[in-house]
Amino acid sequence: MNIVDIINKKRNNKELSYDELSFAINSYLNEEIPDYQMSALLMAICINDMTEQEIFNLTNIFIKSGDIIDFSSIPGVFVDKHSTGGVGDKLTLILAPLVASCGVNVVKMSGRGLGHTGGTIDKLESIPGFKVELDDEELMTQLKELKVAILSQSHNLVPADKKIYALRDVSGTVESVPLIASSIMSKKIASGADKIVIDLKVGKGALIKEIMSARRLANVMIKIGKHFKKEVVCILTNMDFPLGITIGNSLEVVESIQFLKGKRTSDVEKLVLEIGSHMVSMGKNIAYKEAYELVSYKLSSGEAYQKFIELIHYQGGNLKDMKISDKSEVIYSEQEGYITAIDALKLGNIAKHLGAGRESKEDIINYGVGIVLHKQINDYVKKGEGLLTLYYDDYIPDTEDVLSSYTFERQVCDQKIILEIIK
Ligand code: URA
Repeated sequence: MNIVDIINKKRNNKELSYDELSFAINSYLNEEIPDYQMSALLMAICINDMTEQEIFNLTNIFIKSGDIIDFSSIPGVFVDKHSTGGVGDKLTLILAPLVASCGVNVVKMSGRGLGHTGGTIDKLESIPGFKVELDDEELMTQLKELKVAILSQSHNLVPADKKIYALRDVSGTVESVPLIASSIMSKKIASGADKIVIDLKVGKGALIKEIMSARRLANVMIKIGKHFKKEVVCILTNMDFPLGITIGNSLEVVESIQFLKGKRTSDVEKLVLEIGSHMVSMGKNIAYKEAYELVSYKLSSGEAYQKFIELIHYQGGNLKDMKISDKSEVIYSEQEGYITAIDALKLGNIAKHLGAGRESKEDIINYGVGIVLHKQINDYVKKGEGLLTLYYDDYIPDTEDVLSSYTFERQVCDQKIILEIIK
């Protein structure tokens, strides 16, 4: 087999066989073909798309490239939740203990983030002492006792995706439905999930900007799920504006704690109830309505909060020692009206420049910096009222730049947080 023939075949929009895809992926993983040839193949896939069979084969090749976690020694169904990533997205911190408090096993293997703010693991590492690396024995013991663990992907999970994703990032080949679907689903399947809820973010602050592409991606991921006998629900959610009121690592942990203790913004609450109810309905094999009632009860009774505290302590975290920067500056509105848009991408980039996110893998995150929003979409603001507070260390963004993230109008706008549910 020859990589140039395989590239030419895909460029000519012909279907690649399992063996051809496997040869290309595994040769790249073994450093037998260079970046430029893999980039050419990825670009041909981006332009010409993939057939269903090619997508199933690619997912399978990805899964087989590394370890596959087996939780069969622990009773019960394992439900996983994945977010395609957004600004202020702290839902995993809330949902993992909440769903576990309903009696469903949840293991979240998460990554460190590249982009606006850290990933879930960075957020948890803002809690001093929190241990994100668990060996197999520690993980199994914790799951038997708590039903929940959040850990970094220290296992050798889907190394082929890891290497190819890094190349996609620098070769203009991230935005491709078959490549995104196989990348996400291979990691979920290899990490031992039986049932999967995907929070597919759509909008300015998301990887997927258009609803049509989101629908196609959702349908492809559901088909991959069926092929591998995994139930998948995709919840398409709005990422035109930041989620909740904080952007930044420690700040998002604090918001999650306040949420679990009862201080909630309606956007985060709607998403937590919707995603949580689907996870619990799948995990316990009960009707959605029954799951919704259980999830609401576990939140209001404080049991979800107790589970969060148990989880943090079990993994060594000490919430009392968390630090938020003591330097802060309020940005005041220069206009009056209803806020009808908050540019998630712009604020995300401001948070990154404050130090809350990484530009490159080597960057070190400053856990204590970030943004707290005092006003959300459709709130009325008077001239001179505080819009947000910046928590900073050695860099303060230009006020005009921050203010340009906001749009004001005379009337409220129609903004839904949950756009569609596809099963
Ligand atoms: N997230 C992933 O894990 N993979 C992609 O390709 C895109 C988003």
